[in-house]
Amino acid sequence: MRKIIVAIDGHSSCGKSTMAKDLAREVGYIYVDTGAMYRAVTLFALRQGLFSPDGGIDAARLETLMPEVTVSFRLDEATGLPLVCLNGECVERDIRGLEVSAHVSPVAALPFVREALTRQQQAMGRERGLVMDGRDIGTVVFPDAELKVFVTASAEVRARRRYDELAAKGMAADYDDILRNVQERDYIDSHREVAPLRQAPDALLLDNSLLTVAQQKAWLMERFKEKTDDMA
Ligand code: DC
Repeated sequence: MRKIIVAIDGHSSCGKSTMAKDLAREVGYIYVDTGAMYRAVTLFALRQGLFSPDGGIDAARLETLMPEVTVSFRLDEATGLPLVCLNGECVERDIRGLEVSAHVSPVAALPFVREALTRQQQAMGRERGLVMDGRDIGTVVFPDAELKVFVTASAEVRARRRYDELAAKGMAADYDDILRNVQERDYIDSHREVAPLRQAPDALLLDNSLLTVAQQKAWLMERFKEKTDDMA
């Protein structure tokens, strides 16, 4: 059967990666979390001390250092899922904390960062057979993706999910801080000049505020089957 590209875009913390991972595992496709790539570059910038106390970034310095940044994925043998690596070091845990979350939007708004990561993402899809989640996959990275989904949920539901996720990993967090961070990122992601978050005209809209993980997984599997049956 011909393989396709599934592009899953949407707001932060609305379960995009859970549904993308599940689908990829079920149908034997590669899963790529592009948010993890922007987070890895942000971690690099934090480690280099490129942020001022007010959160501003020294973009010129980051641009000079970009050739030294390699973001890659390594398969976790236990789970079969990709782990993000920064210059060969697995940084999966470091990129999920609130510090990286609080600094990632300005990094993701930089054109030279987007260009470098977009090029890498497009190379990953050359053979198709890919489920990729992010903000601009259906609009910029793969405008020709065969199946596009735009996922959203209320900010409060998303903050609660992120809080529960961090708590389950034993990482301390404050719900109000997380809600503020979710709202701020929505605003910056949707209003930036380059590749702003928006629904592609041919994307299916999924508001999962009231859906369980199992329901959303089943919904996506149905859409995938419809699409691939159509093409068979
Ligand atoms: O999905 P996430 O929360 O891990 O993404 C982290 C940040 O990266 C988010 O604020 C938006 C940005 N991002 C982006 O601009 N483009 C993508 N394709 C993926 C993520």
